[in-house]
Amino acid sequence: MSTRPEIVFESLSADLEPTVVVLAGDGASLSTRGKELDQRAAGVFLKAADAAQFKGRRKATVEVLAPAKLGSVKRVLLLGTGKAGDMKENDWILLGGSAAGAIGARKTASASIIAEAPEGAGIKSDALAALLAFGASLRNYEFSKYITKKSSDDDAANGNGNGAEADGLQKLVVHCANPDKARAAYAHYAALANGIVTARDLVNEPANALGPVEFADRVKALEASGLEVEILDDDQITELKMGALLAVAQGSVRPARVAIMQWNGAKSKRTKPVCFVGKGVVFDTGGISIKPAGGMEDMKGDMGGAAAVVGTMQALAERKANVNAIGIIGLVENMPSGTATRPGDIVRAHSGHTVEVLNTDAEGRLVLADLISYVQERFKPRLMIDLATLTGAIMVALGKEYAGLFASDDKLAADLLEASAETGEKLWRMPLDKAYDKMLESKNCDIKNIGGRYAGSCTAAAFIKYFVDKDIPWAHIDLAGTAMDAPKNEISPSWGAGWGVRLLDRFVADNYEKNEK
Ligand code: BES
Ligand code: MN
Ligand code: ZN
Repeated sequence: MSTRPEIVFESLSADLEPTVVVLAGDGASLSTRGKELDQRAAGVFLKAADAAQFKGRRKATVEVLAPAKLGSVKRVLLLGTGKAGDMKENDWILLGGSAAGAIGARKTASASIIAEAPEGAGIKSDALAALLAFGASLRNYEFSKYITKKSSDDDAANGNGNGAEADGLQKLVVHCANPDKARAAYAHYAALANGIVTARDLVNEPANALGPVEFADRVKALEASGLEVEILDDDQITELKMGALLAVAQGSVRPARVAIMQWNGAKSKRTKPVCFVGKGVVFDTGGISIKPAGGMEDMKGDMGGAAAVVGTMQALAERKANVNAIGIIGLVENMPSGTATRPGDIVRAHSGHTVEVLNTDAEGRLVLADLISYVQERFKPRLMIDLATLTGAIMVALGKEYAGLFASDDKLAADLLEASAETGEKLWRMPLDKAYDKMLESKNCDIKNIGGRYAGSCTAAAFIKYFVDKDIPWAHIDLAGTAMDAPKNEISPSWGAGWGVRLLDRFVADNYEKNEK
């Protein structure tokens, strides 16, 4: 899937790899170990910093080619932190990504990062090491399984052939005061990174390789991480009368699947679970209400909500989270064909309600409706959060920086917004309102699947709300803008962003693990 370098923690005095990253604070102030190295090299770091007018601004770098006195060290990269006292947890993670970016550009096989904060930063070396390593591991993601041409071929053609170096970074050594402590702190982040990589891989995978069945197989394989996984096939889904979900799937030759993941990590098995619900449309052509050709290839990512749910469940299991959690995803392909649902068809949802499908491209909400009514009936969850690449309209409203948050419960909204602020996965709250419910009234049956010209994201949320039990706190996250083709940043280098895994993991850790009995 992806090639990720091995990350190891060693002491500050351990041997350094040929490329070394040293942090420099405001005014290019160095850490203790940085100063030591500078002295051994007769002050060349600070001289280079001065020559390059490097002031330690956040993310700024200076490359210093190391003098012979530094032995095996070939180059040192000074990486600015800016005012170190202002750095929050996520800033250190982003800085780890910047370090990995600077290392990656040097095409070196191994590198060291010295996790010693510049003076004035209120963070211990070991905590810092774990955060930098996490950021670096997220940055070092690459989806290259279909690239058959090796970069070493390019280098050889250019006369730069250099075996090991051309294969990219193999090993990253993070040096810190107490490597055992850092390793223990990193275990949490390693699990999280694994979940994020799973989500990215799923989103990046083209739909010919990842149909509902293949997706379900990948989820089943996560039993190795400790999840309990149940896959419902088309017969079982029919038996359960999920008529809305099946109405989306029926145009495709590839049958639907529903995957249910359980993680029972709370001390009491009876604690009601938190529940995550994901839209997993492996490809969305629009169906008979077919989409225009331009950009349709992006609809391989219309399972970004399901990917986030899977990645989150994997992370919770791998880090043995003290919580009971359920993940449920609906896997379907929305295709036009002789068996496809037509505009105007009326279908019966799992809840028993009838739905008039006026636009077959408003399919995600049909999938979610059945998952939600099933999961609330079977598990009586303490809350439900659904994630879906649901509407183009959310990008009109918020662009690609923010996902839209709709919530029936202010406490749930506040908790999600807090996790959002901490992780940098940005959410903006959007309205639920009776006026939007009204826009879905049908002349012919209980509800229609589209609202009208305006407020497309709000009427989509209103549709889902129709199927939610009023006693269960519920939130809906529309991640159409952020799950795929989102702006790249220090730690998100890929088309499939894995967006939402950090957010949900943090939401669980901050609110549902601490007092769990
Ligand atoms: N999967 C799309 C939404 C989408 C669009 C996600 C672009 C990512 C990028 C969804 O199924 C859809 O087609 N929504 C329609 C709804 C409309 C028919 C009411 C839309 O947004 O146009
Ligand atoms: Mn659609
Ligand atoms: Zn869709």
